Amino acid sequence: MGTVAKLGLLGIACAAVLMPCTGAAAEGIGERPALARHVLQADIESGRLSWPQLLRIGEQIFGMRFNQLDGQGRPRSTGTGAPRAEGQPAFIRTSAPDSNSCVGCHNQPRPGGAGEFVANVFVLAQALDPVTQSVAPEFSNDRNTLGMHGAGAIELLAREMSFELLAIRDHARQLALQTGSPVRLPLVAKGVGFGAVTVLADGRVDPGEIEGVDWDLVVKPFHQKGAVVSLREFTNNAMNHHHGMQSVERFGSNTDPDGDGVVDELTVGDITAVTLFQAALPVPIMVVPRDAQRRSAIRRGQWVFEAIGCADCHVPTLKLNNSVFTEPNPFNPPGNLRLSDVASPVALDLVQEGFGPRLEPSGHNGAIVRAFTDLKRHDLCDADYQFFCNELRPQGNLAGNASAADFTVTPLPRPTSEFLTRKLWDAGSSDPFGHRGDLTTMTEAIDVHGGEARRARDAFFDSTSDDRDAVIEFLKSLQVL
Ligand code: HEC
Ligand code: HEC
Repeated sequence: MGTVAKLGLLGIACAAVLMPCTGAAAEGIGERPALARHVLQADIESGRLSWPQLLRIGEQIFGMRFNQLDGQGRPRSTGTGAPRAEGQPAFIRTSAPDSNSCVGCHNQPRPGGAGEFVANVFVLAQALDPVTQSVAPEFSNDRNTLGMHGAGAIELLAREMSFELLAIRDHARQLALQTGSPVRLPLVAKGVGFGAVTVLADGRVDPGEIEGVDWDLVVKPFHQKGAVVSLREFTNNAMNHHHGMQSVERFGSNTDPDGDGVVDELTVGDITAVTLFQAALPVPIMVVPRDAQRRSAIRRGQWVFEAIGCADCHVPTLKLNNSVFTEPNPFNPPGNLRLSDVASPVALDLVQEGFGPRLEPSGHNGAIVRAFTDLKRHDLCDADYQFFCNELRPQGNLAGNASAADFTVTPLPRPTSEFLTRKLWDAGSSDPFGHRGDLTTMTEAIDVHGGEARRARDAFFDSTSDDRDAVIEFLKSLQVL
């Protein structure tokens, strides 16, 4: 469906009062904000907006090019919202605002997808005051744009894994209180090991053996660093960082913290709509070609991928116990809509609703997620391979959203050398590769897998060229339709 048709539909929805409209009544004459009609959260929660309407509006907001009348830009604040005295430019490629639309970066092969090297973000530069014009690694972490297809399922997997890990920690705490001595339990969620947790009799956590996840044991599946818990939290960050668009839930109502003369730039309902659009995006799938030789290469490639140990981290399937995506996420930190803020969460069943292809159902209420990740951070560096250890600035802290007092030692920065196992279910649509998108082929990306992946990497290059080609053919078949 073209943009014109979609805008038409939004117009009809408004006129028919299916969608409540705020903003000026006159249609489209002269300079206008891109987002002329904001969404009311109450109309989402009451079901007044149908799923197709809501997702279409979310898609429009995701693709919208915000302008000055929307409040694009943040002359008096940084990308974290901290106030600054000097005027910040409307656009600056390094510290951002770096674009006026989510789709400006996320467009490969369609809105919500990955991005080219040109769409890289200099993560953490947005916090700098004064802004930097340098892309050098001492200022920021150069990251390539990821795709969000299947992201609803990824967020749900992370929630279920977090609940499992927290239940283990709470059990250890209960035993430690009962026995009056430290209790150590292994941490496993959906078959993925995250080391072990030790809880002292006073309830504090000794984090020494926790691996690949923050010490608060909440799996944060977003950012290649594993730093953000939900699509909503990411969206609130990204709107301010990339576009200078402040949401009411993060920055407050009827205030103008960025000094651009516009208040209430994004309502709670706007953020819900654009979040649900991302959660409901089609799931990437394996595209099986007609050609018999290719088909058998793909089959062989998947077998080799598992046999040589790639699947130890790029786990082919994880099972969701419940396929219903509820919004907001129960782990949302303050500054984002939280469960306690809503009468009842909005619920979208990812196996039945949303854009197709959808998640594959499994068992009672469950689903299979074929994302090829363990949602765990790994270190791919060793004495021979340092390619993935280029970053110098830690992104946040291992306490996650917990308080430092919960732990026996001062929380450390998130390691600069560790990254989440990259999802590979869209590998055929997400080039270029690597966290900064500076590798044009998958073979180069595999070649720089050292450290924890060294054995699998060596096994790949020790196998026959037919088997290597088969692995690549298999990965190429994983696509966003
Ligand atoms: C200038 C380019 C750019 C723009 C504009 C942009 N993004 Fe992104 N986006 C990125 C990059 C780069 C990453 C990967 C960041 C990382 O790994 O640290 C990313 C990651 C994400 C993720 C996490 C995906 C994952 O699997 O970890 C979400 C969600 C997201 N963006 C949403 C948005 C939304 C919503 C908007 C618009 C408000 C937006 N982005 C605008 C470049 C961009
Ligand atoms: C120890 C865990 C681990 C193992 C084993 C592993 N990988 Fe990875 N893989 C990762 C991580 C982490 C990344 C993200 C690296 C980065 O960009 O920082 C990654 C990234 C990739 C990428 C880049 C994808 C993209 O879109 O940028 C490809 C391709 C890949 N892996 C394939 C493989 C293959 C094939 C094997 C087996 C030979 C393998 N991996 C084994 C953890 C692992």
